[in-house]
Amino acid sequence: MGHSEIEGKADFDHIRYAQLWEDADVLTDALGDCAGGTLVSICSAGDNALAMLTLDPAKVVVVDLSPAQIACLKLRIGAFRSLTHSEFLELTGSRASTRRSALLARALQNTDPETHAFWTALAPDVDRYGIGGVGKFERYFRIFRTRLLPFVHSRRTIDDVFTPRTPDARKAFFDARFDTFRWRLLLNVFFSRFVMGRMGRDKAFFDHVEGSPAQHVARRIRHAGVDTDPSQNPYLHWILKGTHGDSLPMTWRPEHYDTIRARLDRLDIRPGSLEAFVSTGEKANGFNLSDIFEYMSPDVFTQVYGSILSAAAPKARLVYWNMMAPRRVPPQFRTAVETRHTTEEHLKACDMAFFYSDFVVEEVLE
Ligand SMILES: C[S@@+](CC[C@H](N)C(=O)[O-])C[C@H]1O[C@@H](n2cnc3c(N)ncnc32)[C@H](O)[C@@H]1O
Repeated sequence: MGHSEIEGKADFDHIRYAQLWEDADVLTDALGDCAGGTLVSICSAGDNALAMLTLDPAKVVVVDLSPAQIACLKLRIGAFRSLTHSEFLELTGSRASTRRSALLARALQNTDPETHAFWTALAPDVDRYGIGGVGKFERYFRIFRTRLLPFVHSRRTIDDVFTPRTPDARKAFFDARFDTFRWRLLLNVFFSRFVMGRMGRDKAFFDHVEGSPAQHVARRIRHAGVDTDPSQNPYLHWILKGTHGDSLPMTWRPEHYDTIRARLDRLDIRPGSLEAFVSTGEKANGFNLSDIFEYMSPDVFTQVYGSILSAAAPKARLVYWNMMAPRRVPPQFRTAVETRHTTEEHLKACDMAFFYSDFVVEEVLE
């Protein structure tokens, strides 16, 4: 059977997010004690569903509307099973490699035919960028890094971003060397409504942003460069340098590799919507909702939020991010949940995936 035939049958779309741009350290901390429970996660590229296995749940139900995103998780499962940790980092793109096609073939050995065909067709891109670099979002960052950034900052300045510094020295470096007139100009062009719209975000998406998207990004980059330590930030490193440095996203760190590998059977992958899980009558003890609420109108958000509550066990936490649109427990459900403000504030301050403007942790009351 030819690749395209299988792909056609599975109706695969394109990968939007080839790696998770939400901080799994923050997510797993926010979910609290979930040992032995049922967790539900939006798949995206799969990394955060995998990170949730470190919480020792009985199972993690993984949902996603996009078959291509589910294929990212299926490939990762194959990679955890058949590669060593250092091979895994070569395949992801965290580390340089000259043998990604061979590693990809090994990771795909025991995957289903659709996943196999989907990723085999992407082998040339995987070879160049790693499996974490082949999504639309990562391509957008790549264009930024290779075609625009060189006009603004020298390689030396970019390398210097990742030199460990005290908070005062970070501020001095950021103000004097990084946040230059040219840098501001670049942000204004690249994060204009026009360009971001082309990236696939609806214009209405920005209606709630304070100031322009570029101003939002400038504020968040200050958080990444000054409030938190750039030398510890894998997301910033990938955006500015195209690979990871010493620090890695939680799921890809060596200390979690064997734990995750040993628990892969606890993943329960259900291609389709979160709403479909909610209608099964099962109860979950925690939800990783990514930033899916931002893509819903306020009315749909309220309705979906209510249905999630009906599928939540007492004390279950709903954890989610907002990049630009404000979404928090709708008024009619305020008596059903408690917002964990202290947890939110603490975790927001150390969130390395810096572009989100809000992080929400709501706990279902008993
Ligand atoms: C909301 S996007 C955000 C991605 C994220 N910022 C990241 O770093 O990966 C994550 C995923 O949610 C999926 N998604 C959105 N709404 C959904 C829904 N109602 N049910 C299931 N999946 C959904 C999309 O297909 C996408 O793969």
